[in-house]
Amino acid sequence: MERSLTMEIVRVTEAAAIASARWMGFGKKDEADSAATEAMRTVFDTIPMRGTVVIGEGEMDEAPMLYIGERLGLGYLPEVDVAVDPLEGTNIVAKGLWNAISVVAVANRGCLLHAPDMYMDKIAVGPKAVGKVDIDAPVEDNLKAVAKASGKDIEDLVAVVLDRPRHAKLIEEIRKAGARIKLIPDGDVAAAIHTAFPDTGVDILFGSGGAPEGVLAAVALKCLGGEIQGRLLPEDEEQFNRCVSMGLKDPNKVLRMEDLVKGDDAIFAATGVTDGELLKGVRYQGNLAKTHSVVMRAKTGTVRFMEGTHRLEKKPNLIL
Ligand code: FBP
Repeated sequence: MERSLTMEIVRVTEAAAIASARWMGFGKKDEADSAATEAMRTVFDTIPMRGTVVIGEGEMDEAPMLYIGERLGLGYLPEVDVAVDPLEGTNIVAKGLWNAISVVAVANRGCLLHAPDMYMDKIAVGPKAVGKVDIDAPVEDNLKAVAKASGKDIEDLVAVVLDRPRHAKLIEEIRKAGARIKLIPDGDVAAAIHTAFPDTGVDILFGSGGAPEGVLAAVALKCLGGEIQGRLLPEDEEQFNRCVSMGLKDPNKVLRMEDLVKGDDAIFAATGVTDGELLKGVRYQGNLAKTHSVVMRAKTGTVRFMEGTHRLEKKPNLIL
């Protein structure tokens, strides 16, 4: 893949963040999501690549744009898989809470898992604990392993979990083991990424969330040298068959990094929509918008934080 794609895809997440952050606190998650999606779609068409959406806003018949299979870019090489979440944390923006981000991941064609829209059980850790956790092991064993790998006591660890009734048993087990917990209302992509940044104070992510979000988190963690393991959780026969039709011969198998993102090259970009532990949200002042993004590449391991100041009067449709 072209190295210059890293800069190009930040422009995409910046535009989506600028468009959707306007909706912060208005209680309108769909409007915020549409604004992000439209802005993202517009900027994609200025990028020299031949992209195909493999994780997007839905199937062709249910999403007006950024649907699975949609072709993106100016049509030149490289040929790439594109995974998008124009607004990861629609409810977060609606309520003005923490850690809503706009996200894009790109990898060589055929390298990203075509994750069906269903739940995935996940466990994610940063570089120190790579190879030490196992999604099938008891919660306490995983916490012990992370504690040992990071030179901490279990009591010092923070596990992040989506605050959902389905996680009651998991939360109980984490508490019993003695680790502290951060319950989040939404946004497990950001939470998975946080495990790779010690300053965020997060050591491990447990629990189920969206499968597409699991692939996006896997790209980020591949760039950061961390790890996520996942297992799809089809809820009925229809979902099970859907996994099979999407090429997953055994829908119950544990998905490891190489299953989620093949190869050693992939690019990930995220721009903060609302404030978070890692990224600041969008700031507006008249015709100015300020953005805070992270962009990273698996092949080189380079991680860049970027602040953008955008003169909106010079950017019709958020395109320069
Ligand atoms: P949206 O941005 O689509 O609202 O998703 C937010 C999110 O919290 C994801 O981060 C997470 O993977 C998923 O929803 C969890 O789903 P659910 O809300 O059904 O538990």
